[in-house]
Amino acid sequence: MSLLGILKGRGPNGFGYRSTAEEVTYGIDLTGRTYLVTGCSSGLGLETLRVLHLRGAHVVALARTEEGARLALARHAARGTPLACDLSEPGSVRACVARVQDLGRRLDGIICNAGVMALPSLEQKYGLEMQFLVNHMGHFLLVTGVRDTLADKGRVVMLSSGAHSAAPRGGIEFDNLSGERGYGPWKAYGQSKLANVLMAKELARRLSGTGRTSNAVHPGVIRTRLNRHMNVVVRGGMAMVAPLFLKNVRQGAATQCYVATHPAAEAVTGEYFADCNIARPSRDASDAALAERLWHVSEELARRLV
Ligand SMILES: NC(=O)c1ccc[n+]([C@@H]2O[C@H](COP(=O)([O-])OP(=O)(O)OC[C@H]3O[C@@H](n4cnc5c(N)ncnc54)[C@H](OP(=O)(O)O)[C@@H]3O)[C@@H](O)[C@H]2O)c1
Repeated sequence: MSLLGILKGRGPNGFGYRSTAEEVTYGIDLTGRTYLVTGCSSGLGLETLRVLHLRGAHVVALARTEEGARLALARHAARGTPLACDLSEPGSVRACVARVQDLGRRLDGIICNAGVMALPSLEQKYGLEMQFLVNHMGHFLLVTGVRDTLADKGRVVMLSSGAHSAAPRGGIEFDNLSGERGYGPWKAYGQSKLANVLMAKELARRLSGTGRTSNAVHPGVIRTRLNRHMNVVVRGGMAMVAPLFLKNVRQGAATQCYVATHPAAEAVTGEYFADCNIARPSRDASDAALAERLWHVSEELARRLV
């Protein structure tokens, strides 16, 4: 257990920093339930797939390629449906939406887990900065596309990050979504992760009164392939401090599994979670007007992204 894990206590619901995805789902029978998970080919997504399957769920496993999703399911001998969904390609996301609709399954949960972090230099596609495109717009297209397949008490879980507070001053640079003006790897990542919290918040508002929920989570800091774009010195440093200061992958997947499945979280909506408990996000992330504006801009972009 890491040093931080020893120091940090449990939250009001009895879970905390040290809790693992297996612990927070212990005793929960997910037989007959279906969960869609993006980015299931590695890290937190792969662990989430494993634990949902362990509790009896059918996992609709999304990866960049169908083969990647099939391999992820095979790795844990998990029952499920492998689907291709490249979040940087609107055509791939829309094809995935159609496949999900054709499955004829009600989704008990959608876990928007896939992500890219801190691309060292500006990358663009469709005129958008890549992290905004993958982390936010890809998931916006997916979730709005499959929204009608959510079960009566279906839950949407957006993977954000504590790094959402590294977003530019004022939150989202609507006049610079291409990232061309003053690109910074952490600023761009922070903006995309702020967009994840804002999307969860606005979706919660739109789902209110339906029994369906939408929340955002910060999983903690975990050494996964997410750091692949960081330089070798930083990656080496992370490897050294990991046992002392970072969560392991089993702990990292706990918060999203808790929010997606635990009975105590069934009616909680519009919140931001960390260490399996409700936490307070940045001021911009709590700005309802900003959340609504992002939704409208995303709808407009979605019409353009063909
Ligand atoms: N690890 C942390 O410390 C940490 C902290 C805060 C928040 N998070 C968030 O947690 C989530 C999971 O991260 P992780 O740590 O598990 O990282 P990871 O191991 O790198 O997993 C990221 C997943 O996203 C997928 N992905 C990337 N680009 C994609 C695209 N264009 N289309 C579809 N899938 C794509 C990756 O697929 P490929 O393998 O094919 O690239 C991979 O399966 C991310 O949203 C991240 O922002 C992580």
